[in-house]
Amino acid sequence: MALERTLGIIKPDAVAGGHIGEIIAITEQNGFRIRGAKMLRLSQSETEAFYEVHRQRPFFAGLVKFMTEGPVIVLALEREDAVAQWRELMGATNPGNAAEGTIRKRFAENIERNSVHGSDAPETAAQEIPFFFSGAELL
Ligand code: RTP
Ligand code: MG
Repeated sequence: MALERTLGIIKPDAVAGGHIGEIIAITEQNGFRIRGAKMLRLSQSETEAFYEVHRQRPFFAGLVKFMTEGPVIVLALEREDAVAQWRELMGATNPGNAAEGTIRKRFAENIERNSVHGSDAPETAAQEIPFFFSGAELL
């Protein structure tokens, strides 16, 4: 299987909780190479654009408020089958349903404050990576 890239985000709850290093360590231990990384504070309009697909969902306003409450780490991650493998390593959206050993099982507070993001398909990753990284920032 060919190398693939996905977008990961360490969300504001995990950054504030001091879990950046542990999450990046778990990520590298699971075979992902970090091709791009930066810390930034998302604006409301950026977050609304990033999560546009969820605009009509009841949790949209809360999601935008959460994602803008503090800094995040955005990561361009590469390995074989990266999209599916990163989602498996993240665990279920609701940490109550997340498998042992997953990032959300270990670090997520609840279904909204769930520590990490991952692209949900290769086509989504192809949009989400350039949302945060220029070509020159992917190494
Ligand atoms: P993500 O996009 O962040 O990787 O998460 P996901 O695919 O597992 O979940 P998704 O359905 O795409 O939802 C996006 C994010 O919205 C928040 N959420 N809150 N309160 C709720 O019921 C609820 N449902 C979803 C979570 O932060 C979720 O990761
Ligand atoms: Mg999603």
